[in-house]
Amino acid sequence: MTIQRIASKWEKTKVIRRKESLRTYIPDTRKYSSDHLREMLETYEMVYVKPDHGTYGNGVMCAEYWMDDFFPDSPIQLKLRYGIEYELFPTIEELHNAISLKIGQKPYLIQKGIHLLTYRRRKFDIRALVQCTPSNTWETTGFIGRVAAPQKVITNYHGGGNVLPIEDLLGPHLTAREFAALYKEMKLVGVQVAAQLARKFPNLKEIGLDIAIDDQLQIWILEVNTLPALFPFKMLQNKDIYKKIRRYAIAYGRLKAKTAK
Ligand SMILES: Nc1ncnc2c1ncn2[C@@H]1O[C@H](COP(=O)(O)OP(=O)(O)O)[C@@H](O)[C@H]1O
Ligand SMILES: [Mg+2]
Repeated sequence: MTIQRIASKWEKTKVIRRKESLRTYIPDTRKYSSDHLREMLETYEMVYVKPDHGTYGNGVMCAEYWMDDFFPDSPIQLKLRYGIEYELFPTIEELHNAISLKIGQKPYLIQKGIHLLTYRRRKFDIRALVQCTPSNTWETTGFIGRVAAPQKVITNYHGGGNVLPIEDLLGPHLTAREFAALYKEMKLVGVQVAAQLARKFPNLKEIGLDIAIDDQLQIWILEVNTLPALFPFKMLQNKDIYKKIRRYAIAYGRLKAKTAK
């Protein structure tokens, strides 16, 4: 039996949105269009535009209102950021034209932008790994923090980001008690998302959740990956975490057990 993978972010968002208790964790997400760009910029002031079938942060852009601090009387503009580059536009229409040129005919999504917490002035988010246990329940088995490269709007490792334990990243923002509560909530959200997706996709065995934490310490699910990388968890100091991840992955057939020599 092959492990279920789902490429479309839109499909996954639709399924997890059906679960009432998960809705508060999902930033407003729609198919990209000029109307949605206008409406969402007016509502949220910052939005992310990303390919429905994207990976590694490729094609991810961020658009927001922008004011020139040196010339406060100059008109508000719109800033489109991608990679380490940016462009400014006087109107939403022109911003839309520039985005359209970049995305061509490919399906893209637009999502409410979350103001990520920062670590040494770099944005970070959290990858949670949720796996099917050998006794066929769901368990959030690991967390890893991902720090964006300077000036980048994405935290992906393949986009130049680096990984650090979540304790190091969240430590400066939270008390021990707040950390414990957030940790518990993230574990629970992970299990609930997996269980909800598995209702529609019964052969699902593992997911990777991209979790953003904003300055109000609210948890947001940016996306759900169905082919999550396992290797980042190897670097955690607590070696028991990766041992368990490996053991579970062998049990459901993602990894092969080492044969005795
Ligand atoms: N709505 C958002 N608000 C803030 N940051 C976002 C948002 N969506 C994506 N990002 C940033 O971009 C990265 C890549 O986006 P993601 O949706 O995970 O696509 P990919 O499949 O390419 O990893 C995220 O890990 C996060 O750092
Ligand atoms: Mg991602």
